[in-house]
Amino acid sequence: MSASWPRRPRLVAGNWKMNKTATEAIATARALKDAGVPADTAMLVCPPFPALLPVRDVLEGSGILLGAQNLHTEPHGAFTGEVSGAMLTAVGCRMVIVGHSERRHGMGEDDALVARKLRAALRDQLIPIVCVGETLAERESGETEAVLTRQIAAAFGGLVAESARGTVIAYEPVWAIGTGRNASGADASAMADAIRRGLRRLGWGELADAQPILYGGSVTAGNVGEFLAEPAIDGALVGGASLKPDEMAGIVARAALTANARLAETPVG
Ligand code: PGA
Repeated sequence: MSASWPRRPRLVAGNWKMNKTATEAIATARALKDAGVPADTAMLVCPPFPALLPVRDVLEGSGILLGAQNLHTEPHGAFTGEVSGAMLTAVGCRMVIVGHSERRHGMGEDDALVARKLRAALRDQLIPIVCVGETLAERESGETEAVLTRQIAAAFGGLVAESARGTVIAYEPVWAIGTGRNASGADASAMADAIRRGLRRLGWGELADAQPILYGGSVTAGNVGEFLAEPAIDGALVGGASLKPDEMAGIVARAALTANARLAETPVG
């Protein structure tokens, strides 16, 4: 086994968004369990809140990880309609998506709130998947790296790198989410480099190199290989395609192939 692998393991995360009743979610989880997860690859599913518990029961023993799509900053209290990290941990969640662009741009979550949610996730023993990404207008005006640097600094600034170890970052250009218009592998790789530069600026040093970074935005079984061929990209955050078990299984199978290729290329040391 190489020195650098499996330091940054392959992760394919499915974000089901506001789709699937509990009954539908159970059927999808069963199909994913039947398909299985190849070695050197991790699969995460993030169903809507009402489906977490039944999906947890279906996935038991499958190796497929359970995650949530959002959390509140406080552990409990008078916050009608909200769900805390402690509640998510209690139903078997290991990870939680933080700062998804649909929450940043559709539900008013700003950088400061994303930072508080990241800390809440760590406090409640959840691995946060922190989403960052530029809008089309920001990209077209040449601000992409500045936006990523700002989002990274706002979310991770003030956190001791060691305490943030185990977090995952997802680079999700807003214009690529749900549009069928994905970034190129080279572009996603360049943006992952920009994100790691942002972490180094916060004093992370070599830990920035070990930071897992996913690409998200119109990922399919057909295009995921392009992203995972990039050494800077460690996995994928998948929305629409993750709703179909066959497609999700196809993405994970591709991820396993690229994991094996990376293993084969890395000198044993
Ligand atoms: P998409 O969504 O794969 O449907 O573009 C990605 C996401 O929102 O994480």
